[in-house]
Amino acid sequence: MSDVTYRRARPGDFLEIAALDRGAWRQNADATFVPDGEHVWRLWVEHALTFVACQGSELVGAVLAFPCLAGSWCLHKVMVQEVFRGRGIGSGLFRVLLAELDDRGAEVFLTVDPANQRARRLYEGFGFAESVFVSGFYRPEEDRLVLSRRALSGT
Ligand SMILES: CC(C)(COP(=O)(O)OP(=O)(O)OC[C@H]1O[C@@H](n2cnc3c(N)ncnc32)[C@H](O)[C@@H]1OP(=O)(O)O)[C@@H](O)C(=O)NCCC(=O)NCCS
Repeated sequence: MSDVTYRRARPGDFLEIAALDRGAWRQNADATFVPDGEHVWRLWVEHALTFVACQGSELVGAVLAFPCLAGSWCLHKVMVQEVFRGRGIGSGLFRVLLAELDDRGAEVFLTVDPANQRARRLYEGFGFAESVFVSGFYRPEEDRLVLSRRALSGT
């Protein structure tokens, strides 16, 4: 979408991102426990890598990655408001986040519900190729695929 802009999140964005998070999972399995809370979003917008997609003054999508002790980065969450999906915004968020992570030479992993075809297609398109199935990653019935994307060589 040509009128959507992307930028690093600012501390003042955290309440709006948390509200987006509370609404983004309605169509997903086990949606009740997925949204993260306002306090951790307040920390992530300042101390992790969070990008937002905006149409005018409205925040319509967000993506987040944070560094891990082992040296790789966890791409913890990507979400787009329901009415804005399928228009390239999730891909736009991935582009800006991964450009930044590639500049840092970062290896990145994420987890996804194996049944979330739309998200898997997005991730595979951005080079998340290595996949490990973890049974009961959250609750016994909540499995996850852990997908990894290698650091760009030469960085
Ligand atoms: C996953 C999500 C972020 C994708 O955002 P989006 O803005 O719709 O993504 P895009 O429009 O950039 O499309 C990304 C890919 O999904 C595919 N896609 C779009 N709409 C689709 C649909 N209705 N059904 C299946 N695939 C679809 C696109 O084809 C695209 O793949 P392609 O580039 O190979 O064609 C969004 O659907 C979302 O917020 N879902 C709820 C939260 C979630 O599940 N997050 C992921 C887990 S953390």
